[in-house]
Amino acid sequence: ADTTVYRASTTAPVNIAVVKYWGKRDPKLNLPTNSSLSVTLSQADLRTLTTASCSATYPASEGDSLLLNGEPSDVSGARTQACFRELRARRAALEAADPSLPKLSTFPLRLVSENNFPTAAGLASSAAGFAALVRAVANLYELPASPSELSKIARQGSGSACRSLFGGYVAWRMGSAADGSDSMADQVAEAAHWPEMRALILVASAAKKGVSSTSGMQQTVATSGLFQERITRVVPENMERMEKAIAERDFAAFAEVTMRDSNSFHATCADTYPPIFYMNDVSRAAIRAVEAINAAAGRTIAAYTFDAGPNAVIYYLEKDTEAVVGTFYHVIGGEVEGWKRSVISGLKPTMSL
Ligand code: PMV
Repeated sequence: ADTTVYRASTTAPVNIAVVKYWGKRDPKLNLPTNSSLSVTLSQADLRTLTTASCSATYPASEGDSLLLNGEPSDVSGARTQACFRELRARRAALEAADPSLPKLSTFPLRLVSENNFPTAAGLASSAAGFAALVRAVANLYELPASPSELSKIARQGSGSACRSLFGGYVAWRMGSAADGSDSMADQVAEAAHWPEMRALILVASAAKKGVSSTSGMQQTVATSGLFQERITRVVPENMERMEKAIAERDFAAFAEVTMRDSNSFHATCADTYPPIFYMNDVSRAAIRAVEAINAAAGRTIAAYTFDAGPNAVIYYLEKDTEAVVGTFYHVIGGEVEGWKRSVISGLKPTMSL
């Protein structure tokens, strides 16, 4: 009998969208109502490390399992199950074509995952988590799948996870097929294309977000009138402008689209009934600080963006570190109550592959 323990490890980075994914046209397959675009952050600062193993010696009665930061984590959810199912089906196809391969697809899976950032920081960790899970199992199964192919599987775990299969500047093309076969990520530019890009994360609150992205999206699609305008006109325009800004390394354009898109996303949330507020007073203070920084510089050197929570991500260029990070400490430092508990870190986006 085969007593081998088969094993593979990988890491996946966090990504922060500058054109936001918000809305599902198919909640089961995680198919979005619009395309989105993100910047992949440095793995030195934020990443998930996942080891996948499987063996005929693992008791079948224990089933698949996941240890996340040392704690057993539930894998019975539909999203995680969809990822396992897709990966196993691809492995089973390889095994059917080559009977000499060990039947890994029939063995229980064990996953061990660690984040190198505090989960309590309130940062979206599901993107890195699902991207690492999918790539670790794909490596274990020796699947001949491209990052875009893997992104279609990771997408079913968490939409934004599909963008964490690439480094640099990454687009998630919404696609149009009902089965999701054309809804995947691709790389718009490598991190090395614009190596001066930096991201600063301001943690306004480490508390878990009040309204999950899944239910927030559902409520927005169902009740916001503004949302139609966003997905039909605003986002397609922002995608085009953002890709151009990145291609031309035009920071002012990059920043304007980033801030406008964040504002538009949060406006649709405020337009739901009842309204959803992800930003708080501390978030709004960060917006005013960015405006003050840009006004003082006489040009746009900083851009804010907010996901489904109050924490700010500030994009800026290396040469403006002093003006942006320095001023942030000064402006925010003693004056705004909420920031006294803040964590501030400088992050440099890098390639993940
Ligand atoms: O991947 P999800 O289902 O957690 O949704 C993420 C949604 C935003 O972070 C708000 C936007 C984005 O594009 O990442």
